[in-house]
Amino acid sequence: MSDAKPAGSATLTVDGQTVELPILEGTVGPKVIDVRKLYSQTGMFTYDPSYTSTASCDSALTYIDGEVGILRHGGYSIEDLAGNSSFMEVCYLLLHHELPNQAELTDFENTITYHSMLHEQMRNLYGGFRRDAHPMAVMIGVVGAMSAFYHDSTDINDPQQRLIASHRLIAKMPTIAAWAYKYSVGQPFLYPRNDLSYAENFLRMTFGVPAEEYVANPAVVDAMDKIFILHADHEQNASTSTVRLAGSSGANPFACIAAGIATLWGPAHGGANSAVLEMLEQIGDKKNIPEFIKRAKDKDDPFRLMGFGHRVYKNYDPRAGVLKKSADDVLELLGAKDDPLLELAMELEKIALEDEYFVDRKLFPNVDFYSGIILKAIGFPTSMFTVLFALARSVGWIAQWKEMIEDPDQRIGRPRQLFLGATDREYVPVDKR
Ligand code: ACO
Repeated sequence: MSDAKPAGSATLTVDGQTVELPILEGTVGPKVIDVRKLYSQTGMFTYDPSYTSTASCDSALTYIDGEVGILRHGGYSIEDLAGNSSFMEVCYLLLHHELPNQAELTDFENTITYHSMLHEQMRNLYGGFRRDAHPMAVMIGVVGAMSAFYHDSTDINDPQQRLIASHRLIAKMPTIAAWAYKYSVGQPFLYPRNDLSYAENFLRMTFGVPAEEYVANPAVVDAMDKIFILHADHEQNASTSTVRLAGSSGANPFACIAAGIATLWGPAHGGANSAVLEMLEQIGDKKNIPEFIKRAKDKDDPFRLMGFGHRVYKNYDPRAGVLKKSADDVLELLGAKDDPLLELAMELEKIALEDEYFVDRKLFPNVDFYSGIILKAIGFPTSMFTVLFALARSVGWIAQWKEMIEDPDQRIGRPRQLFLGATDREYVPVDKR
């Protein structure tokens, strides 16, 4: 909280007692009421399940204004970064809070490249999984297991080890993810190659085979890099908050990231990109759209339009805007423009955006609505979509983890509760119940 500016105070009267709560101001965005002393002053907690009104930390990495549809990393808009920079530049920006100059970028790219191999014994981990295991399950296991292989970068109190852990994570995620895919299809693992870019290396390890040279389509490499940029960080979402909470106890970074991957897996979060494709397949034909729209609006039906709505964005998700444009270009290049699923998606978007229910609730397409369509056209199976999200988000997770550990005021996170269970009662022996 060192850089937060005091901005007055709020007066709270409770049980006849008045307390002054400081108001703090960041560089941009809503002010916060500092309730840290509330319990000691009043004996009461604040109540905010699902954290709709709680700033859980301060951060200088990513700023979102969901009302307007703004997303910025280190002050740079996502449109600017996706249009002009590379994923490696964005990784550097998130880790170091500044864009790199050419020498710094070259040095960073080399560092990431030279950390991309896995400890050879990590290969054996894959063989322990069933071939039909969901690749996200494999990711949680293998990333968590990095704690067992890279002991020299798990001392969270050593800044150099923290940086090496960050580099290792970013560098090894493509290899870990590509091998999860290779294992599921029964093909040999490919090792990373140092002459290829980050995205190209990942595509080759995923789609290449040892029997022949793999040459990636440059447009696909660009699209992949853009998808990585668009997913790099998104402030205090469920998976990032999980990583921070796990890290707040002093757990090692690889274990914390595995916890983040687990959280991302859910369909309300990163799992939505694969759920979008499954939903489109379920809808099947344009003529069925009205029926599914009707179901999405029915409170007694659990069906929701996947890829629509967002906790923070009450406007178009800016990442969806960028991806929508890029979807057009990539699909054209890959000759997948006439994909009936794409046509269905466009029609669904049009109908939902005009429907009163979606308009009133400000439910717009989110990034997951378009990413699945592009990933499918590139050739990824649906089960890999969330893995790609995890790969890209690793930089956000580790940068947020690092920022938290480097905050001198950092303490273990420990939410409280409103207790609604039984009060004090006496134990009754089992034969008397
Ligand atoms: N389809 C139909 N109705 C919806 C949808 C949807 N996709 N999303 C929200 N609503 C409705 C809710 O039923 C609720 O209606 P009500 O006010 O009449 O009760 C209203 O809109 C507000 O929704 P909440 O559930 O309160 O919003 P919340 O912030 O809790 O949820 C979430 C956000 C989880 C993203 C939700 O919109 C959703 O489930 N969307 C589909 C899954 C998805 O696409 N997730 C990806 C998120 S982006 C990401 O992780 C990168």
